[in-house]
Amino acid sequence: MEHKSCKLPFVRLFYILFLSHLVFCQLDYKYYDSTCPNLTRIVRYGVWSAIANDSRMAASLLRLHFHDCFVNGCDASILLDDIGSTFVGEKNALGNRNSARGYEVIDNIKANVEKACPSTVSCSDILTLAARDAVYFAGGSYWTVPLGRRDGRTANKTAANELPSPFESLDTIIAKFNSKGLDIKDVVVLSGAHTIGFAQCFTFKSRLFNFGGSGKPDPELDASFLKGLQSVCPDQVDSDTNLVPLDSVTSTKFDNSYYKNIVNSSGILQSDQVLGTDNRTASMVLNYNKYPFLFLKDFGASMVKMGNIGVLTGQDGEIRKNCKVVN
Ligand code: HEM
Repeated sequence: MEHKSCKLPFVRLFYILFLSHLVFCQLDYKYYDSTCPNLTRIVRYGVWSAIANDSRMAASLLRLHFHDCFVNGCDASILLDDIGSTFVGEKNALGNRNSARGYEVIDNIKANVEKACPSTVSCSDILTLAARDAVYFAGGSYWTVPLGRRDGRTANKTAANELPSPFESLDTIIAKFNSKGLDIKDVVVLSGAHTIGFAQCFTFKSRLFNFGGSGKPDPELDASFLKGLQSVCPDQVDSDTNLVPLDSVTSTKFDNSYYKNIVNSSGILQSDQVLGTDNRTASMVLNYNKYPFLFLKDFGASMVKMGNIGVLTGQDGEIRKNCKVVN
């Protein structure tokens, strides 16, 4: 009896290790090497031409991948259209509506991939590769991504409404990352994505005029930077959708100036600036400000982690033919 109960944890451990190994192994760096050898070229060209046409697209594709992975895992659920009253997608969820961009870029790439390798490559793998290439074309680092994700057959607008928001506390944001298997370091590193792209005034306007009901701007904002923001985002509702670069220094370049901005009290979102003052994150901000290559290296590692959230593999999900609709 004693002998049996003593063995049980080992048996369990074996199964846990063995099964988790299997799940992880279903994502594979060479997954499409024989079934779609031109995949990476097709995606890379699609991303390159989209960015050549609109330099903001690098940022938009990167954010699309984040918003996909944080809802139902990286299953391309974000790409599904609403269908009348029968199917509710995520495109109209709070953080996506009039904000997320780049859907048509992925749809075009998918159409080209389908021509070359019909019913073979998932939309979620295409989006993962596109985000990686977008960072590379914006001047960031390059990392290899394991492939073999399958597409979800469902979407979850309610969960998409809960994507991290700039109005939330750092504790809440950290908790949301933790719930996806990401840690505080991933929060700091992945927030560095805000080195490219734009934000609408309403996402930070509460900092500019009457911060927390004080009648004054957020004291964490540099005075001359604040003036610039106030002129693009005057205190009236019709400025809500005006755009400001998240990194005003090098807005299309994927570098570490996001962290420099924070150090200089010029982080746009409150959820960005707080990383410079909270004692759990401030030293990382200083490090990435000082060591640009450390940031680029860590960014790739955190992106691979993010790209593995809740992936569907094996017989789960499907390979959509069109990223907008389930088969
Ligand atoms: C930590 C929590 C995060 C919050 C609260 C947050 C919030 C936001 C907000 C409010 C915007 C502006 C949206 C708009 O005005 O329409 C934005 C833009 C952006 N976010 Fe985040 N974000 C977070 C994390 C991330 C992560 C993890 C990534 C990617 C790895 C990312 C990538 C981007 C990019 C690239 C843009 C610019 C998009 C464009 O110009 O189209 N963000 N984010």
